[in-house]
Amino acid sequence: MHTLGILTAGGDCPGLNAVIRAVATRASDHHGARVLGVRNGWKGLIENDTIALDRDAVRGILGKGGTVLGTSRMDPYVHGGGLASCRATLDATGIETLVVVGGDGSLRSALALSKEGLDVIGVPKTIDNDISGTDVTFGHDTAVQVATNAIDRLTSTAEAHNRVMVVEVMGRTKGWIAVHAGIAGGADAILIPEAPYDLEEVASVVLARKERGRRYSLIVVAEGIPSPATENAEARLDAYGFERLGGVSYAIAAELEARTGFETRVTVLGHTQRGGSPTAYDRILATRLGVAAADLAAAGRSGVMAALRGDRIEAVSLVEACAEVRGVDAERYDVARTFFS
Ligand code: F6P
Repeated sequence: MHTLGILTAGGDCPGLNAVIRAVATRASDHHGARVLGVRNGWKGLIENDTIALDRDAVRGILGKGGTVLGTSRMDPYVHGGGLASCRATLDATGIETLVVVGGDGSLRSALALSKEGLDVIGVPKTIDNDISGTDVTFGHDTAVQVATNAIDRLTSTAEAHNRVMVVEVMGRTKGWIAVHAGIAGGADAILIPEAPYDLEEVASVVLARKERGRRYSLIVVAEGIPSPATENAEARLDAYGFERLGGVSYAIAAELEARTGFETRVTVLGHTQRGGSPTAYDRILATRLGVAAADLAAAGRSGVMAALRGDRIEAVSLVEACAEVRGVDAERYDVARTFFS
């Protein structure tokens, strides 16, 4: 009987449980495989921490946020000895194929493991939507929905108080959440890492709106833009050495207040964008990717990632998936910029 391991690594993301449920159900019921869940991402593979995932173990988790397997930012190549550090667990458990549900860092490790001879299937996950080789990542739709709801609410209170509202969203070095939530929420300006910004221009949008009787504005800021204040430039690192972002919008707001005279308030949405129940879109996409990953494993494929291309789920090579961290294209940003006035 084939033994499949599955782990969820990196920051959590709405839809992870839908993938776990789909992989476990498809692999065991359809392909007669044994499925083991590896707990807390790569950490569980290094420390031999696994649980059996049969049909019963994944019942009732489809719509739940987080991941029943747990996750961490530990990485076998950054914090361990690569395949060698996972070998004891692979031997002890008999895991023959590993399904890695991860973002760009975890998929790069999956690619390296496959080059070292391990059978690996990738599933792209991240609210940031920045993985190459797939049209979209699950979790992004939920994050955009949360941010859009927040923008709608902030717009009405901004109007009531004649204020400028600065909403900061996640996305690390990419501006997908900012652009999509900004378009959906009708933002008056959206600042993203992919495009240089000019605060004088943003201030002039706010003042032009005032001239037209609109004494309020809504500005969306992606957390990864460079700060105009030097004191914010110092990197803060998490337990695994990754830079923690968040807070750049305070410096943006202070500048805008000084330049426009409008009282300017900040809302940092932070982890509200990552927690909680996935949207129907994310549940469906995550389920399709999980089923495809189990099928790819059963077909003996390795070194590939299940990906959404157009309306189809296809296998793309992990090399393609890891080629670059995908940023917002000029065309998409141009759609958003049309409404900066
Ligand atoms: O990559 C997903 C993400 O939510 C980013 O948008 C954000 O910068 C980061 O993770 C936050 O990570 P953590 O929860 O480790 O602070």
